[in-house]
Amino acid sequence: MPVSFKLNGKAVTVDVTADTPLLWVLRDTLDYKGTKFGCGVGQCGACTVQRNGTAVRSCQLRVGTLEGADIKTIEGLSPDGTHAVQRAWEELDVPQCGYCQAGQIMSAAALIERNANPTDADIDTAMNGNICRCATYHRIRAAIKRAGEIKRGVGVTPNSSRSGAPGADADAAASGAPKSLFTSAR
Ligand code: FES
Ligand code: FES
Repeated sequence: MPVSFKLNGKAVTVDVTADTPLLWVLRDTLDYKGTKFGCGVGQCGACTVQRNGTAVRSCQLRVGTLEGADIKTIEGLSPDGTHAVQRAWEELDVPQCGYCQAGQIMSAAALIERNANPTDADIDTAMNGNICRCATYHRIRAAIKRAGEIKRGVGVTPNSSRSGAPGADADAAASGAPKSLFTSAR
């Protein structure tokens, strides 16, 4: 069954059975491998993408429900890794193995888009269900607060857009995770 929707700003049409989960369509049909398979049952958040600006679990989203939807994945968050959340993630060197981080970033970006000054409670609510087996939660919380500051223009200098923090890519490479979480992660 053909289904047409927008993916990272571009129109796409896929012809798969209507109950195919979006995660499978992204990874296997469209070759967008930045979005990760974790549990497949809506419990871990590794597969989080945005549908019409809201964080959703792509393993639980049947593609047949997506006609006309606006889907954003980690590859489409920004063209050059300069989204406020990506900048904050680099500044604070958030990832460890990296596997959960695309999902974490997509949830955090949806939060920051609607609330650039989130409280701890706001963060707990928005990030509930995004599991990190490396327990990077304290850095995630700090980075979300920093992303809010960046979005509000607090402590931002013209050259602070990419800190070049080495940890993320180095750790990801060591673990076999995507080389970059921020651009065309595959
Ligand atoms: S893979 Fe979708 S929530 Fe775990
Ligand atoms: S599972 Fe979250 S960084 Fe490893």
